[in-house]
Amino acid sequence: MDLPVDADRLRDDIEANAAFGRVEYGDPEKRGRTNRTGSEANRAARDRLAERLEEAGLDVAVDEVGNVLGTWVPDSADPTAAPVVSGSHLDSVPEGGIFDGPLGTYAALEAVRAMREAGVEPTRPVGVVSFTEEEGGTYGNGLLGSSVATGVTGADEALAYENDAGETLGDALDRIGYRGDDAIDPATWDAFYELHVEQDTVLEEAGADAGVVTTITGITHCEATIEGEANHAGATAMGDRTDALAAASEFVLDVEAAANAVVDESSASAVGTVGSLSVSPNATNVVPGRVDAGVDVRDVETESIETIVAAARESLARLERERGVETAFERPFDVAPTPMSDRLRDAAHAAADAADRVAIDLHSGAAHDAMRVARVTDASLLFAPSRDGISHSPREWTAWEDCAAATEVLAGALARVATAE
Ligand code: CO
Repeated sequence: MDLPVDADRLRDDIEANAAFGRVEYGDPEKRGRTNRTGSEANRAARDRLAERLEEAGLDVAVDEVGNVLGTWVPDSADPTAAPVVSGSHLDSVPEGGIFDGPLGTYAALEAVRAMREAGVEPTRPVGVVSFTEEEGGTYGNGLLGSSVATGVTGADEALAYENDAGETLGDALDRIGYRGDDAIDPATWDAFYELHVEQDTVLEEAGADAGVVTTITGITHCEATIEGEANHAGATAMGDRTDALAAASEFVLDVEAAANAVVDESSASAVGTVGSLSVSPNATNVVPGRVDAGVDVRDVETESIETIVAAARESLARLERERGVETAFERPFDVAPTPMSDRLRDAAHAAADAADRVAIDLHSGAAHDAMRVARVTDASLLFAPSRDGISHSPREWTAWEDCAAATEVLAGALARVATAE
């Protein structure tokens, strides 16, 4: 099966999309865009996608939270069969890169065009999807569209989210014309593929064309509070202090040591980070009275996460005993590791082999819409190389030939799954 992915056509689509919300730096190394959900740039990006889907012969549907789905029902397909769908998102973080999201969305469309031109005869409909507000930050915490479509978040709840200006998602979608009334339900799909930029350097270092994700890591966020006693930094003798920040410093190192121990002993992909500290009263001449620490723990194995979290709790108990501080520990956010479908991974590897492309297995440390879709149907996440692993930055870059190579793997995988008996 030779699939003529058109690298120039794919590039034109990504370049055209990059113009919506473009940020100018006067530096050819920087290509930024700000495409926040509900903005005029977001409307323009959606309009262009819908036009390109229709031009390619896909029927366009929009659901109540603005997810967009184009569906190709070829003559060879049973129109009632469960579709094979691929896509990603068009929104960005402020001053984000031009590939994060749009590559996967337009690669899915390019894959459909390549299949048509190659005369592939799918037995199932093939869809191209763009999920709303993947990045979060404008409305909610991210993965919004895929969370609503898969039933994790209620549509009414999501539509009531407000942006910084106090406008609800529902009103914003009405304003830009993307509050639809079609049903988009991934539970009715046979399979879902998302191609995304890797945002790390594994593929670059391996010289690989594509990554086939085995598991999306689980994520836990914990909040630790350490209370000592705020006091005068000059008048309080060293022996009379209960310094919350000195205690918190040991906590930071204990979490790091626990993560390193898990990496050495059982799981190389485990990570533990104390990423935020809020010190009170945070004044040079006052012994710190209170510290709030934010902890992020991730791995492909639930056991590793639990081991690091347990070590964080033990660290706090030790600090209570040894330093006389009071501590509290909460765990407000928890997502289990999500394994990707073996059937779809096998199809991706077969497609890479047939196209003479090098595809390697790896895990994803970041969450993507595929993580939500995997709750309700077979899902697969494919990666294209990211130069220096940079993303969420105007310096994010994936070479155009790398975009095309990864899209070739995606197209081959979609063609295999959509023509399977
Ligand atoms: Co993304």
